[in-house]
Amino acid sequence: MDTAIYDVNNLTDEMSERAEVYGEEEARRAVAAALCAVEEAARVIRRGGLVAFPTETVYGLGADAFNEAAVRKIYAAKGRPSDNPMIVHVARASDIGALAAALTPDAVRLIESFWPGPLTLVLRKRAEVPLAVTGGLDTVAVRMPDDPVALALIRRAETPLAAPSANISGRPSPTTAAHVLQDLAGRVDAILAGRPCRIGIESTVLDLSEGAPVILRPGFVTADHIAALLGKPVGTDSALRARDGSADAAAAPKAPGMKYRHYAPKAEMMVLEGRRDRVKSEMERLKILNERLGRRVGTLLFEETAFLEAAHRLFAELRALDDAGVDLIIAGALGTDDGLGFAVMNRMMKAAGYHVIRV
Ligand code: TXA
Ligand code: MG
Repeated sequence: MDTAIYDVNNLTDEMSERAEVYGEEEARRAVAAALCAVEEAARVIRRGGLVAFPTETVYGLGADAFNEAAVRKIYAAKGRPSDNPMIVHVARASDIGALAAALTPDAVRLIESFWPGPLTLVLRKRAEVPLAVTGGLDTVAVRMPDDPVALALIRRAETPLAAPSANISGRPSPTTAAHVLQDLAGRVDAILAGRPCRIGIESTVLDLSEGAPVILRPGFVTADHIAALLGKPVGTDSALRARDGSADAAAAPKAPGMKYRHYAPKAEMMVLEGRRDRVKSEMERLKILNERLGRRVGTLLFEETAFLEAAHRLFAELRALDDAGVDLIIAGALGTDDGLGFAVMNRMMKAAGYHVIRV
């Protein structure tokens, strides 16, 4: 399949402001050209095709959420298990009415505070939402992304977009257009190539379908943020606390996608956990030891409390280490008391297949 690649780098809030508020001719032309590209991509969606697009979290691979045949193509393009439901992306909060059966007061408050943004809400679905989107579940996950390209695409397609992350299933999520090309060129109809994603890890998935709010996947919006807004405790899916990734019934995650091997680089990966000075020296020792055995070793150590930076760079670093052809990645753990640290470590542990060494 030929994949059309459209440059939408210039479709940013800043460029739009320069074009509209300050009337800068150059900015106006650049924004208009990008919007033309988005219009082409929207046409692809309306015809039942697949389009990869940037969001503030990671790139998504979208199809018309109400077109079952189009949605099925996503599973094929990604090599994704078909029981793994997708997030449906809307451009206006009111569009959730076409997807969710009922909005709880909690849902309304969360939408008012966090949309557009990296918070996905799981609600009872309307009958019209195809089961192909929800992996057969009677709930639907919905979010409104905070990205001008994503919003323009959804608006122009005139339909919500079912969109998982735009990677081959199991690989680190794509945070740049180059990552998307690497995985999906030749497998999808079009790629909107924009800027690197601002946040870098996927949205928080919050289940509201059974009353009490429960986090199914940690992300940029933390349990503390949500609890502070709702004035009530927020649960965390117990499977997220299981340190061994075990898939026994008690620890089976409620978000089906959380049970798969995920975010995984091709290299073997281990995470060192403990006091910083020990992590550093053990990392050096293991590196030298493994290099003596003829293995190529890459290391990954973020500043201990640089959670934003770690979220922003984690997936890109894993891909870069793969591209460099290392056999072993040795990473240092971050603290998990901070909600964003917890979200980053959730990805890092999965990438490492829960291979943790206490030092
Ligand atoms: O930031 C994001 O959320 C990105 C961008 C593209 O929006 N999307 C994303 O989609 O990460 P995906 O498909 O890679 O992950 C969706 C997660 C999976 O863990 C899936 O199991 C869960 O959300 N999920 C989706 N619908 C669900 C539902 N009805 N009930 C429970 N979990 C659901
Ligand atoms: Mg994904």
